[in-house]
Amino acid sequence: MHLHKYEKIWLIFGLGSLILFLAIIGFAAFYKGTHPQSHIETIDPQNIEANENFKPENLGLTKVEEGKYVVNIVASAFNYDLGIDEKGKRVNKIRIPKGSKVLFQITTKDVVHGFNVAGTNVNMMVEPGHISRYETTLKNTGEFTIVCNEYCGLGHHLMFGTVEVYE
Ligand code: CUA
Repeated sequence: MHLHKYEKIWLIFGLGSLILFLAIIGFAAFYKGTHPQSHIETIDPQNIEANENFKPENLGLTKVEEGKYVVNIVASAFNYDLGIDEKGKRVNKIRIPKGSKVLFQITTKDVVHGFNVAGTNVNMMVEPGHISRYETTLKNTGEFTIVCNEYCGLGHHLMFGTVEVYE
């Protein structure tokens, strides 16, 4: 079969583009991973208490050392479980001194939720079966609202909490 010179060029160009495209997609999907970076560790969503971090008594804010904190959270439809206070009341607000290094660890038993501390760089997707982690230094004082930015059902807009960073 005889191919015209330009036909050949375009055929090669077309095939080349296709291979390049597949290579980029393949690289993004398999090498870099299509999941957000935080989704490395898995957890049994039916039994999250088996993980030390998500036992009821370990939820909420824990001081690890001076200037270093861990916040363990269980997101569910439709709230953020941050543990209970001394009086047995549900905690909805955590207070952290300015300049602290804070590791947020969060999971869920039910559906996909978001965990965004508005006005900070804390913004995670929370999936059942995964632990999402993010460490940050809270540099600015103020009250920051925790919002769910993944639609999770009728009470989606009711999911919130507060992080207060004080001087
Ligand atoms: Cu949880 Cu939207």
